[in-house]
Amino acid sequence: MKLIRCKDYDEMSQIAANIVASQITLKPDSILGLPTGGTPVGMYKILSEKCAAGEISFEEVTTFNLDEYYPIKRENDQSYWYFMNKNLYSRVNLRPENINIPNGEASDPQKEGARYDAKIEAMGGIDLQVLGIGPNGHIGFNEPDCCLIAGTHQTSLTDATIDANARFFAKREDVPTSALTLGLGNIMKAKRIIMLVSGKNKSKVLNQIFEGKVTCENPATMLLMHPCVTIIADEDALNG
Ligand code: F6R
Repeated sequence: MKLIRCKDYDEMSQIAANIVASQITLKPDSILGLPTGGTPVGMYKILSEKCAAGEISFEEVTTFNLDEYYPIKRENDQSYWYFMNKNLYSRVNLRPENINIPNGEASDPQKEGARYDAKIEAMGGIDLQVLGIGPNGHIGFNEPDCCLIAGTHQTSLTDATIDANARFFAKREDVPTSALTLGLGNIMKAKRIIMLVSGKNKSKVLNQIFEGKVTCENPATMLLMHPCVTIIADEDALNG
């Protein structure tokens, strides 16, 4: 596991954007795994600007998002599809047919999980998975639990995650309580992983990773077993 120390959020975003940009420059038909949340917004802005400036192209890129609230309609302004469209999809030259996100409107979440897994496999797997981390150590919506699931599945959000995501909603009661998420097996199969970590509220779970023990209480510690992970963390997260 490699660690890149950054002074602040902006530097973290710049370094992450540079890594994604070099990935798609070296392999124009890259398969990217992408997160939502507050952390990657700066990275998406820089990638959009690089694309507008003609420095990079998403023309042949395929994306798979990590998760989506469930159930939720795509056009709901709280859906992750809406978030991605606003922050990246509508701002770069991704082909609509190359954009994948778990379907929050699927009638059968189990079938939807199987469909999503099969599509990732059929595409040859994720080349570069970008992750954020929840203040409770979740990656995707793989919440701390004694039972960690390998494939894409429906999951209940913990109170800690609902609290953390309440900042994006008018009131806490509006936060969805369930989601579809890639499983830890999907994430661990990615060829390369970068995890962006910013803010003092992430320092506890980040330090737990550095302790070197894999635990169900902090699902992100699973990344210790992956051969190619780079953590890009700002000073607040490292010293919080
Ligand atoms: C989002 C996701 C989550 C977030 C995590 C951190 O697609 O999978 O694991 O990465 O909750 O969210 P922020 O960046 O808002 O702190």
